Amino acid sequence: MQVRPLSAPLGAIVEDLDVREVAEVVWQELNDLFCRYKVLVFPSQVLTPEEQINFARNWGELVRHPYAGLADYPDIIRLENAGKKRDVNQHWHTDMSYNHAPPMLTMLYALETPPIGGDTAFSNQILAYQSLSDGLRNVIDQLQAIHTAAGLAELYQQDAAKAPKAEHPVARTHDGTGEKALYVCRAFTQRFVDWSKQESEPLLQYLFQHSIRPEFQARHEWSKGDLLMWDNRALLHFAVHDHGDEPRVIHRLQVEGPVPV
Ligand code: SIN
Repeated sequence: MQVRPLSAPLGAIVEDLDVREVAEVVWQELNDLFCRYKVLVFPSQVLTPEEQINFARNWGELVRHPYAGLADYPDIIRLENAGKKRDVNQHWHTDMSYNHAPPMLTMLYALETPPIGGDTAFSNQILAYQSLSDGLRNVIDQLQAIHTAAGLAELYQQDAAKAPKAEHPVARTHDGTGEKALYVCRAFTQRFVDWSKQESEPLLQYLFQHSIRPEFQARHEWSKGDLLMWDNRALLHFAVHDHGDEPRVIHRLQVEGPVPV
């Protein structure tokens, strides 16, 4: 197995490894790499849905998406190019932060990729937290925020009033490394607990902008057969839709995570 960094702020490419044959000792090594780099890419994999699920289960039980899933494999979502207007993932977010215990990781397997474009972008929220001033870190260390899936429910024509909602610390501690990460996103974070929406807005807008500064970001350019996993405890991500109507087909699943503290 060969490991090389993907970019300065995050990510590593793990070559010469067939993820169908990962023994316990190798998994430990992969988990250490995952905690360090936050994105791992395994190129040239040939996987059935069961094999992707088996590999992911090394990290824990799978978490179903509330509004989507394959008929035969409800834990897997098939992402397909539905045109720019219907691209639900073209925004910066961390997965399912509207849940009490959001997924620790998300894993994508590329079945078909466009000749160019369709990258996934990531932003490292540990770097985002570390680069705030001591003064602002002291403020946000005391804050909790409300995250809601109301916007997502509307997108899937579901009842927004029944959409899941959760409260989380604005700076969470990574359970694998002890690092602190900024934990807000424009898609799901509504306001700070005990603050009104109007009061929350200016500081949230500042944090949303800060969280995606270019020096925290990296992009993965997909090839067919890439298996990629990212750490929702430490990253935001964004599906870049710059590939017009070119096909892009991905199998996506998520693994359970701890309650953020
Ligand atoms: C997602 O946001 O979960 C999907 C990202 C992608 O399709 O690149």
